[in-house]
Amino acid sequence: MKDSSFAEDNIIVEGSDLFIVLDQRKKWLTKAVSGKQFHCHKGFIDYDEIIGKPYGLRVTTNKSATLSIYKPLPSDYLAKLPHSSQIIYSKDAGMILMNTGVVPGSKVIETGTGSGALTSILANYVRNTGHVFTYEIREEAFNTATKNIERLGLESYVTIKNQDASLGFDETDVDAVVLDLGDPCEVISHAYTSLKYSGIIAVFLPTYNQVEKVYTKLREFHFGEIKALELIEREMQLKVNAIRPNTRMIGHTGFLIFARKLYYGEEE
Ligand SMILES: C[S@@+](CC[C@H](N)C(=O)[O-])C[C@H]1O[C@@H](n2cnc3c(N)ncnc32)[C@H](O)[C@@H]1O
Repeated sequence: MKDSSFAEDNIIVEGSDLFIVLDQRKKWLTKAVSGKQFHCHKGFIDYDEIIGKPYGLRVTTNKSATLSIYKPLPSDYLAKLPHSSQIIYSKDAGMILMNTGVVPGSKVIETGTGSGALTSILANYVRNTGHVFTYEIREEAFNTATKNIERLGLESYVTIKNQDASLGFDETDVDAVVLDLGDPCEVISHAYTSLKYSGIIAVFLPTYNQVEKVYTKLREFHFGEIKALELIEREMQLKVNAIRPNTRMIGHTGFLIFARKLYYGEEE
C-alpha cells in the first residue's frame, strides 16, 4: 500500500511553513530556508536536513535535543502570529463555523477584524470562490490583521476595510454576518440590511447584559431561530496515572448568539 505520508503536498520544500515542537511549552512557527539554520536554546538544525522530507519528521539538534516538525494548523498560526487584541478561541470559532453554515463560496461580513484570527478562519473555509469582507476601526489592528492574513496566504479571499462598521456595510446579499466588537447593537441594523433572507447573524459577546441587549435588538428586527449559548472547554493534563483536567483552565471567553433573517412577504 502506498504510504500517504509521502504525498507530494506533505513534503517540506524551500519556503514551507514549519511548526517546530520541542516540548509542551516550546513551539515555534518558522519557514524552511535552504542554507540557513533553525536555532533554539537546545541547539540548531540545518533546514537542508529537512527539505525534501515529509512533515511529521523527528530530527535531532547538534545538542541531542529532539524536535518534531509539523505542518502548521490554523490554530498554530493563530497562536504564534502577532495580536493587537484578544483573538477568538478555537472552540468559539468552531461553533461559529457550524452555526453560520459557512462553506466554500460563502460571502461573509465580519467586524471587528481585531488581529484577523476569526477572519483567517472564515477565509480558510470560504475559499476558493467565497470572500470575507472585514471591518476594523483601529488603524493599528487593521495593519496587524493585514500582515497576519498575508502571512497565512489568505489575502485573495479577504477584503479588509479600515472603516467604522457602525456607519454601515458596503456589501449586500451576504450569507452570514459575524460580529465581535464592543457594541454589536449599533451594527445589527446594518447586518440586517446586508444579509440575504435566511442568512445568519452570529454575535460573540463577553457579558450577560450584552446578550440581553443583542437578543432584544434581534427581536426588533424579527430575526428567527434566535439561540444563545456558551461553550466551556477543559483541557486535560496528559500524565500517565494522573490524567485529569488541568488545574488552570480558560474560565470564560464569551457567549454566542445566532439568528436567521426572515422574509415576511412583499409588504414588509
Ligand atoms: C475583540 S476584537 C476582535 C477580535 C477578532 N475576532 C479576532 O479573532 O482577531 C474587537 C475589535 O473590534 C474593533 N471595533 C470596535 N468597534 C468597531 C467598529 N464600530 N467598527 C469596526 N471595528 C470596531 C476593535 O478595534 C477591535 O479590534
